[in-house]
Amino acid sequence: MLNLGFLSSHSGSNVQAIIDNVASGKLRANLCALVSNNSHAFVLERAKKANIPAFHISSHNYADPEKKIIEVFNEHNVNTVILAGYMKKVSADLIHNFSNRVLNIHPALLPKFGGEGMFGSNVHKAVIEAGEKTSGATIHLVTPNYDDGKILNQMTVPVLDNDTPETLAKRVLEIEHILYTDTLIKIANGEILIP
Ligand code: GAR
Repeated sequence: MLNLGFLSSHSGSNVQAIIDNVASGKLRANLCALVSNNSHAFVLERAKKANIPAFHISSHNYADPEKKIIEVFNEHNVNTVILAGYMKKVSADLIHNFSNRVLNIHPALLPKFGGEGMFGSNVHKAVIEAGEKTSGATIHLVTPNYDDGKILNQMTVPVLDNDTPETLAKRVLEIEHILYTDTLIKIANGEILIP
């Protein structure tokens, strides 16, 4: 069974999509805990509303936030860590603790348009400036290097001639909401194999 622990920094619409798909029975998973590094993140409200234990953990309130995150996830029996709009680099310790079970969603078609600094609208701006006709979203395993781990699943969207980073971000986010759940279902039923 997938026991999910979430890391998310802002709105958390990807977390909400997973919450909704579990509630509807589409995805079988336990929603064990959610951690945000941002005490004002709307995702904390989303988690509380869904009765998911929610925690603000950052260097503002913990001397060793990464250690605390691992503790919280272990206490709540997390076996799969879901990064969804998490704007911090996760520690090698966390990656080691949840070996090959830390997933991230990236708002472009990796291996292109990834790496340090490539988050949010920076990604979509780079895609448009490169003249790409297609973009999309990628779910990949997390390694100590940014956006570097094994690619598990991708979905594409067109890039339109008059796109701005905002219009493209909106189109990509719509498929992100499908892609995370689709990936988790395929992991659960063995269609996507992770080491
Ligand atoms: C999503 O588009 C996600 O792919 C992106 O942040 C957004 C979070 O939206 N993540 C990154 O850029 C990480 N490199 P959400 O908070 O509404 O799920």
